Amino acid sequence: MTSIYVDEAAGSDLAGAGSQTTPYQTLAHALFTHGQAADVLVRKDPSAEYEQPTQSALKKAKKGADGLEKKRRKAEELAEAATEEREKRERLLEESKKVQLIEDDTLPAAIKAKILNLEPYRGKRVRIFGWVHRLRSQKDIIFLVLRDGTGYLQTILSGVPAQTYAALTLTLESTVELVGTLQPTPEGKTAPGGHELVVDFWRTIGAAPGGDDAFTNRLNEKSDPSILADLRHLVLRGENASSVLRLRSATLSAFRATYAEQHLLEVTPPCLVQTQVEGGATLFKLNYYGQPAFLTQSSQLYLETCLPSLGDVFCVQESFRAENSHTRRHLSEYTHLEAELAFITFDDLMNHIEAIICEVVDKLWKNESTAALIQQLNPSFAPPARPFMRLTYVDAIAWLNEHGIEHEAEDAQGNVITDAEGKPKMVPHVVGDDIAEAAERKMTDAIGTPIFLHSFPAGLKAFYMKKVPGNGGGDQPAAIALTESCDLLMPGVGEIVGGSMRISDIDELLEGYKREGIDPAPYYWFTDQRKYGTCEHGGYGLGIERFLAWLAKRYTIRECTLYPRWPGRATP
Ligand code: 4AD
Repeated sequence: MTSIYVDEAAGSDLAGAGSQTTPYQTLAHALFTHGQAADVLVRKDPSAEYEQPTQSALKKAKKGADGLEKKRRKAEELAEAATEEREKRERLLEESKKVQLIEDDTLPAAIKAKILNLEPYRGKRVRIFGWVHRLRSQKDIIFLVLRDGTGYLQTILSGVPAQTYAALTLTLESTVELVGTLQPTPEGKTAPGGHELVVDFWRTIGAAPGGDDAFTNRLNEKSDPSILADLRHLVLRGENASSVLRLRSATLSAFRATYAEQHLLEVTPPCLVQTQVEGGATLFKLNYYGQPAFLTQSSQLYLETCLPSLGDVFCVQESFRAENSHTRRHLSEYTHLEAELAFITFDDLMNHIEAIICEVVDKLWKNESTAALIQQLNPSFAPPARPFMRLTYVDAIAWLNEHGIEHEAEDAQGNVITDAEGKPKMVPHVVGDDIAEAAERKMTDAIGTPIFLHSFPAGLKAFYMKKVPGNGGGDQPAAIALTESCDLLMPGVGEIVGGSMRISDIDELLEGYKREGIDPAPYYWFTDQRKYGTCEHGGYGLGIERFLAWLAKRYTIRECTLYPRWPGRATP
């Protein structure tokens, strides 16, 4: 009998052949492969001699070989079962090609309907078109959840409708036409809308791929954020993403309805502009027939020109910010809701912002379907208590210092000062400092309610802001002269509204241009507002995505717009 060789150090069970030159690594594998009676010689490593194994080593190895044999048999059984299953499926598929599903024209005519409007059709035959949202087969029944953009519908295919080739090869995200009778959900079961469709006829309209290219292989919960961004067009089909967009639509409608009630008129200012509002650093510049132009940062200046003509106005317009901010609350393009009101005081302005926000939240919360969306996305949501807390900028600086919230020190050029290990040097806040996003967020989250942070120093704010009369205004240096300005901060997001009273005096306005190094020439139309019947007025801008991130508790405002744009991302 030829001997089988095992080298416990240099052998290999996988690549070895049991010969002296290519030994196995384990005695158990040698016995499993060549039978328990094989003549096996073992050595510890290539420097030792091959020897007969000891009795105890043989006994242990036999047990190991039995285990390996069991594993082999199990694998064989599984492979056989898989082959059987595959063959069975192939037979079934072949058989299914013969099954013909024809719409029975003796049944009552089906009414074409959308999922949202199905309730009146209970007990009737309906025809519905949509996408296969979920799919599950159980014995000979197919449970299919259909999505048509107005809702979800539980449907059941059994008998012939579940036996056709199309039924057996149906995939998620395919489009289908379903015809059947709408039944109330059986007692003790739940389904969207409280009913389900028992299908008697159906067909595939556009089959989505299966296999490697199947929807769930391109996208799932574990997908990387950059893949989710590239596949935003498919992400939108998900329940959460579509609910956010649905809530966004309802929010815009609620704002419009609330403004109509308060007699603010909607206007549509241009996106292509030749003036800045919020500082040159964040302007997207473009060549406009050979002239410099920008994408608008804010429609505020245009709204101000509407006051003498249309009274109080608002707009819903895209604003563009070319800041290189990769934070979860900055977009390069966002939907900016802005309003402007004439003959008001600073107090009126904050009262108005608070009233509008609370009225919008009330409308959404009172409406059954929008309340359901909010609860789905943000189960712990409760409308905010009124009045909102008001905190001056100077008091906020004191609050931050009392709570040990520091900020990164910067040199005169605005570079962060670091220590020997490269860690930023942290310093307490002083009046005149911009309250950075991190500090603002810590304070807002610690306080936990909406906060009107107001009366910021002029040096931190735009050229158009009115100074606080007689209090820090007047002759004070711009850096610390306070303005009638306010930011509304919300827990979880931070600033969602920025607003102010505007300079009403023409000389003060010209001074503002100068301070900010702005050439007044292109602003002639804005300056004219102060010349032809000036008035005390103020307004604000609200970032719709930030409002939604607060309302629907989204981690980032990137989830709150259809196709978000941020530095480097303008696709899809
Ligand atoms: O504070 P901001 O820059 O104010 C203005 O533009 C004023 N001219 C508005 C006005 O008074 N009519 O912006 C107002 C709001 C912010 O509070 C924030 O919600 C949002 O616009 N916002 C942004 N949202 C997303 N991404 C960005 N990069 C944003 N920048 C501002």
